[in-house]
Amino acid sequence: MTTDLKGKHILRTDTLTDQELELILTTAARLEGEREGGRRLENMAGQVMAAMFFEPSTRTRLSFEAAMHRLGGDVITIADPKTSSAAKGESLADAVKVVEGYADVIVMRHPRKGSAAEAAEAVSVPVINGGDGAGQHPTQALLDVYTIQKEKGTLDGLTVALAGDLKNGRTVHSLVYLLARFDIDLIFVSPDQLKMPGHITEDLLSQGVRVTHTEDLAAAMRQSDVVYMTRIQKERFAQPEEYERVKGAYVLDMAMIEQATEGITIMHPLPRVNEIKEEVDGYAGAAYFRQAHNGVPVRMALLALVAGRD
Ligand code: NCD
Repeated sequence: MTTDLKGKHILRTDTLTDQELELILTTAARLEGEREGGRRLENMAGQVMAAMFFEPSTRTRLSFEAAMHRLGGDVITIADPKTSSAAKGESLADAVKVVEGYADVIVMRHPRKGSAAEAAEAVSVPVINGGDGAGQHPTQALLDVYTIQKEKGTLDGLTVALAGDLKNGRTVHSLVYLLARFDIDLIFVSPDQLKMPGHITEDLLSQGVRVTHTEDLAAAMRQSDVVYMTRIQKERFAQPEEYERVKGAYVLDMAMIEQATEGITIMHPLPRVNEIKEEVDGYAGAAYFRQAHNGVPVRMALLALVAGRD
């Protein structure tokens, strides 16, 4: 059976098949090559993408918009929820039912976990989850895997450390389910209060993934090929004091890189607050801006695939 994502929603990573993952990565690489030299592709000509963002975003929204433009398609957008009918109390289901009449694909970000699945339930056009609260962020995870593959050549045989707010960080919640398909060792680095949710760790262990936990970032970096830093998710804390207690938990600097595995790759979904010192930006293995740029080909692939126009 050939793999096909036409008409499908992209809501989470654990339900993607290995073949679908492979298809997305190879399509991204192909489209990146095809548009080399700034060529505008026409795959999505005549199609409209609606970006419905009910939570702040720079990279996700703009790279989806750029991806759609690069494919010759058009974009309509809610950039600021305060100016949309959500501010008048409209339900999410009503909002997406209206927008499905305007667009061929909906990209959505919303503060509530489970909201993307709820939206997908309500409409028949594909919904792509651009982040649902502390839930999932599948398109980020896909561009993260694409980035590791580009930076390292392969994912197999690597040790990857994930550090920071593993409890509330949706990017890592999605990423681990993709990393689990490769022959990889995972090191979770977090303070006790910000550990990876138990159900996710259990899922990984039941799949036979090798996972360890430490609070010591420097020690983890001495064993890792890749370190994936995350922001402490201030907006998910009920009590500001709790955030204050953990906000400076990890600050990666050049001294730590000098002690780490040679050639270690440093990633971060961005925005960074203070998790990586600016002095690291000039280090050859600092991949976070390249990672952000990889969002465009990966999102081009997703848009083209769900539209059946790859
Ligand atoms: C992430 C997000 O929104 O979850 N940002 C992004 O999409 N690149 C990470 C974060 O906000 O910390």
